[in-house]
Amino acid sequence: MADNRAGTGTALPKGFRSAEQGWPELDRIPHPPRRLPLLGDVLGVDRRTPLQDSVRLARGLGPIFRRKAFGNEFVFVWGARLVADIADESRFAKHVGLGVANLRPVAGDGLFTAYNHEPNWQLAHDVLAPGFSREAMEGYHSMMLAVAGRLTDHWDRELAAGHTVDVPGDMTKLTLETIARTGFGHDFGSFERSRPHPFVTAMVGTLTYAQRLNSVPSPLAPLMLRDATRRNAADIAHLNRTVDDLVRARRESGRGDGDLLDRMLETAHPETGERLSPQNVRRQVITFLVAGHETTSGALSFALHYLSRHPEIAARARAEVDRVWGDTPAPAYDQVAKLRYVRRVLDESLRLWPTAPAFAREARKDTVLGGEHPMRRGAWALVLTPMLHRDPEVWGADAEQFDPDRFDAKAVRGRAPHTFKPFGTGARACIGRQFALHEATLVLGLLLRRYDLRADPGYRLRVTERLTLMPDGLRLRLGRRTAPAQAAAALTAPQDAVSAGRCPVHGMGD
Ligand code: HEM
Repeated sequence: MADNRAGTGTALPKGFRSAEQGWPELDRIPHPPRRLPLLGDVLGVDRRTPLQDSVRLARGLGPIFRRKAFGNEFVFVWGARLVADIADESRFAKHVGLGVANLRPVAGDGLFTAYNHEPNWQLAHDVLAPGFSREAMEGYHSMMLAVAGRLTDHWDRELAAGHTVDVPGDMTKLTLETIARTGFGHDFGSFERSRPHPFVTAMVGTLTYAQRLNSVPSPLAPLMLRDATRRNAADIAHLNRTVDDLVRARRESGRGDGDLLDRMLETAHPETGERLSPQNVRRQVITFLVAGHETTSGALSFALHYLSRHPEIAARARAEVDRVWGDTPAPAYDQVAKLRYVRRVLDESLRLWPTAPAFAREARKDTVLGGEHPMRRGAWALVLTPMLHRDPEVWGADAEQFDPDRFDAKAVRGRAPHTFKPFGTGARACIGRQFALHEATLVLGLLLRRYDLRADPGYRLRVTERLTLMPDGLRLRLGRRTAPAQAAAALTAPQDAVSAGRCPVHGMGD
């Protein structure tokens, strides 16, 4: 976290811009009551669940608050008014801090972890964004269907054997295979393995390590985390090896079919003619394999949890799938976006459990947040998305209730902008948003159509944190549905105009 600059191209003073330096009126921002000298706000918190602890504290402390751990103080923002202000791109930009900066040893200046001023961000963004245009997405659709078929084959076998299914485990297999296949023409063989692929184990290891680094005083980290640091180095080496093999195989076999890896290796920047360096390609491949599956897998898992808990919502979603898809074995690309209600189920799941649960923003220049809190250039705050998504002023007194109708078109139009931010904001918002939404809607549709989802009545939702969120230990019992009787009644939903605008990803706003 040594290099900390705003996205203006001008360097800030070197070093960690602490909250004390960055927020001249820090004292006006509340913190938890029982603050200990040296240690900070550590009483009653659990190092395995920093996000859920912050959510709990936020309820008592209000729309902006701070937490101190071992000398480092962090400011959190979640009130809708303040978040809308911090989303202003003319005054704020992404801040690469905390967990994200801890991933720099593995992902370097890859898209997700790049500092705003690093030239490889713009280069990679411009080269890779067309890989998420509508045309590109349409090309991925049949591969997504094929991978989903492997999931349903697996679930059919589990059902026949009378087993319950491991939802987060199987969703992780599905989303890893999907990004590997569509992005890199690669097959990890996840469904044929009884244990997670070593790539997944190494990835979970680095994510968990990056989170742990935040919970120990930095000078003591080498001592306290000695073994974990050694394991992390081995994990990173494994990730690098896997990716190098994959890239080598592609170079040897010649061109793929225009997938992300082809773009990384072959495509020059449309204006400058520049290409990604081999080292940057390695970082981008790791970035996409990690960012492209972990969060989507969590989103699908939470959605399946809620569907199993709300049979009436599942029935409504299933009726829509039957109506829109009829009994076509392979729904077409255009038929996915027509699952409006299924998509609402997904949005509502991402509202309650945004699987990338925070993003950091820094001031590009001296400014006053929400007209109340002065910030110096380079000062930063974490947007606590699960609390933004529960702000009662926006979502009502029943904000904790799962209700997909919060996302019907009229309700969405009636809400202020920047109140729903599971994919981050601005120029550094998620490049894979449409990819994730298409994949997850398609898979939910296929699963709803094929199975009844039966919750274990004894299960209480527990959420594990490793920078991303995932329901812990969620298993479902499946029932087999018979083929839908209704014929398809085509809806006339307009397609998302993904390819509009200069940037195919951010041209459509967030
Ligand atoms: C439900 C699924 C997903 C969620 C909730 C999610 C969430 C996010 C969020 C919040 C950010 C911004 C982080 C920040 O400001 O620091 C982000 C960035 C990013 N996401 Fe996603 N994401 C998802 C799926 C995907 C997929 C499927 C891909 C790739 C295929 C992907 C690739 C990326 C990349 C490369 C960035 C960095 C973009 C940049 O800074 O230019 N994500 N994502």
